[in-house]
Amino acid sequence: MPVTVIDRSLHGSLLTDTVKDIASTLLTKCDLTDYNLTIVLTDDIEIKSLNRRYRSQHKPTNVLSFPLSENIGLLDEGLSFKELGDIVISLDTARKEAFFNNQTVIYKLSLLMTHGLLHILGYDHEASDSEAERMSKEETRLLHELNLCRRQKMTSLAINVDHIATIRQARGIAEPDPVAAAAICELAGAEGIVVHLREDRRHIQDRDVRLLKETVKTRLNLEMGAAEEIVLFALEIKPDMVTLVPEKREELTTEGGLDVISQKSKLAKTIERMEHVNIPVSLFIDPDIDQVKASLDIGATYVEIHTGCYADATNEDQQHNEFKLIQSTAAEAHQVGLRVNAGHGLNYLNTGPIAAIGTIEELSIGHAIISRAVFSGLEQAVLDMRSIVKNSVLL
Ligand code: PXP
Repeated sequence: MPVTVIDRSLHGSLLTDTVKDIASTLLTKCDLTDYNLTIVLTDDIEIKSLNRRYRSQHKPTNVLSFPLSENIGLLDEGLSFKELGDIVISLDTARKEAFFNNQTVIYKLSLLMTHGLLHILGYDHEASDSEAERMSKEETRLLHELNLCRRQKMTSLAINVDHIATIRQARGIAEPDPVAAAAICELAGAEGIVVHLREDRRHIQDRDVRLLKETVKTRLNLEMGAAEEIVLFALEIKPDMVTLVPEKREELTTEGGLDVISQKSKLAKTIERMEHVNIPVSLFIDPDIDQVKASLDIGATYVEIHTGCYADATNEDQQHNEFKLIQSTAAEAHQVGLRVNAGHGLNYLNTGPIAAIGTIEELSIGHAIISRAVFSGLEQAVLDMRSIVKNSVLL
């Protein structure tokens, strides 16, 4: 493809292939496959000096376009490849803006490349309001056509506070309170709170869920088995979403995903009842394409992919294989229109690669964060995990 990517930033070649793929797709969508385009990835120092030299602006910017406009339109004159020009992008500014807007860097780069290419093709949003509107429409069209298989937003972190309740129940008194823990998690940057109301009420109590429904400012995800008593409770409380999990009384924690295929009609009925009161349903499944298809068939909004086998892998090969399975299952689920979350067993060492999977929206993490909080304090434990989740999707 006639795209050249020159990486002059300090970030190495990690982004080069992706940038090249996106730019090549853009050229295809603009019917410009016979043209050469050069993308230069650089830093704030270089782009600031270009911005000063060519635009008399004494500051860095995100993107600059340098068209070789005299070449456009000469294909008919028998010349096979023509130069469109250069798009120069500062990765420093792109990363800062992406972080500020909670966007993935890949999405931010797609926006900048689209914007830069349209400038090369003669669009100019500074010329007039109608030109700005014309350019914005074309940008929207191209971004839609790029059909990026990645999310636009960074992965979010939802925190499961069951283990705070486990400590409380060990004494049978009122503290520590999972409701207070949820507030601290949110203040430290958690984007969702998860609790599992088990039939045996071994940790989270009905009172906790009722109070959390009133106090959680982000999103309350109620994890639950599909037992009638719990379903009725969820229908009354109306959390922001529910995640249906398999539940066995004797298990220490949720062991494996739901077998959606063998329980289709029961789960479908529960989903229907939840959706009747506008509660979206997620199904906790193993990384298995057939379970994804069954989840789609019965009307789930989300699937949460079980990462337990990846987390428990005892050697690198096994972990790699489990990772690939999660990645391909997430891609399939995203492709068919399901929203995708993941969780179970994720910790400070194994979360990074999972957070970088572009089709997974949210990670649900509990034990590792609450365990670290015992030593570092809850706020610090959340900040440390948040930093892993957000930074791993910056590339
Ligand atoms: N997702 C689901 C469906 C779970 O059952 C659990 C455990 O309660 C988690 C995520 C979080 O797992 P962990 O506590 O190992 O981070």
